[in-house]
Amino acid sequence: RRPSQDRLALRLPPEYTERAPDRPFHPAAHQSELGREGPVHEVALSDGDRAWLVTGHEEARALLADPRLSSDRFRSTRMVEKIPPELRKRLLDPATRAGNFITMDAPDHTRYRRLLTGQFTVRRMRLLEPRVHEIVTSHLDAMIEAGTSADLVPAFALPVPSLVICELLGVRYEDRDEFQERTSTLLRLDAHVDDVVRAADEQRAFMRALVRRKRVEPADDLLSGLIEAEAALTDDELVSISNLLLIAGHETTANMIGLGTFALLEHPAELARLRADPSLTPGAVEELLRYLSIVHLGPIRLTLEDVEIGGVTVPADSTVIVSVPVVNRDPRTYRDPDTLDVARPRVSHLAFGHGIHQCLGQQLARVEMAVAFTEMLRRLPGLRLDLPAGEVPLRSDMLVYGVHSLPVSWDETAS
Ligand code: HEM
Repeated sequence: RRPSQDRLALRLPPEYTERAPDRPFHPAAHQSELGREGPVHEVALSDGDRAWLVTGHEEARALLADPRLSSDRFRSTRMVEKIPPELRKRLLDPATRAGNFITMDAPDHTRYRRLLTGQFTVRRMRLLEPRVHEIVTSHLDAMIEAGTSADLVPAFALPVPSLVICELLGVRYEDRDEFQERTSTLLRLDAHVDDVVRAADEQRAFMRALVRRKRVEPADDLLSGLIEAEAALTDDELVSISNLLLIAGHETTANMIGLGTFALLEHPAELARLRADPSLTPGAVEELLRYLSIVHLGPIRLTLEDVEIGGVTVPADSTVIVSVPVVNRDPRTYRDPDTLDVARPRVSHLAFGHGIHQCLGQQLARVEMAVAFTEMLRRLPGLRLDLPAGEVPLRSDMLVYGVHSLPVSWDETAS
């Protein structure tokens, strides 16, 4: 059975993802080494094919804004041929591709993106803030009620963004075990192709049932709103859009909360600054996004023609992988890039990508992280790790980096 990295038509050697247990917040060593050598590198994939890794900040920004780079890697026959046939059938099925705008180029991408940006404005996300606050505090209450220790991932980091995106979309939160497990399979680098196919099929069937229900029983949620706003959207399109939002909307933020907490606990002086002055939180969130760069293997693009960048010519039909962790620590862009500084002035970073695909949910993610960190630090005094830092299980095996679990405890006085 083949590992699921084949679904990306891209099998990366482990040195691109594995982090040393004593350096959990630093980019994988091999990516960092390349970063020190220059901004753009031709690299060998496990199957012998070549790809181009971008480690320079300015170069990454330019490439992500360049229409000669496509987000639809299936425009390359070479890539399509590398995908195992059973998966190829699914991935290239027009029903699956309809609405999956993260893999589309302009003008198709533009049409869907426009439909959705109206739903994700800064104003709309601020309006959601009181509800996010309630969700955060109710999970902290439950943790405090149950004792003085917990695994932060299942108790807080994962359920908070899961519940928020469920409510926003109109997905029943009771169904979370199902979709969280499938998401985990879809994002696992070493999952087998058969399991990926099964998880993808089940998730589409799950979402299709919801879309059909919302057509007859609309409610005050994003899915019903989309159906009402754009009557021409087909079930296939709505299924893909909703699955994209559901998957992108909980795994990423959950890992920023989990890994972000771990990073703060390992940087006690920064944690103390943040506790002492919560007004630092919005800036600290940006700095954590930069410092941790959890999307650690991408964005990935395909060159449609020869592209010259950083003194290198990347030939047409090449895979380009932006190394966000290294790009966000480019010493040409950041002073002391390897230092976590919660008061770093005006942090701008590529953790949400750049260009037309820049993260649609970034304002929501910012609100969730700011509320989660502020309330967690306020309500859980003496928060500490319950195991040696080197034993925290890291998500080097996943498309989105983070921690699989984070056992913590806190002082009893909390309430
Ligand atoms: C796109 C990161 C949270 C929905 C992206 C991209 C990145 C990213 C790097 C660009 C992908 C590319 O260029 O190919 C993150 C991080 C998050 C986060 C680090 C949390 C801290 C969210 C949330 C949602 C969301 C909460 C939904 C509610 C999306 C969608 C896209 C996207 C729909 C595709 C946009 C497009 O293709 O136009 N995200 N994301 N993300 N993100 Fe996020």
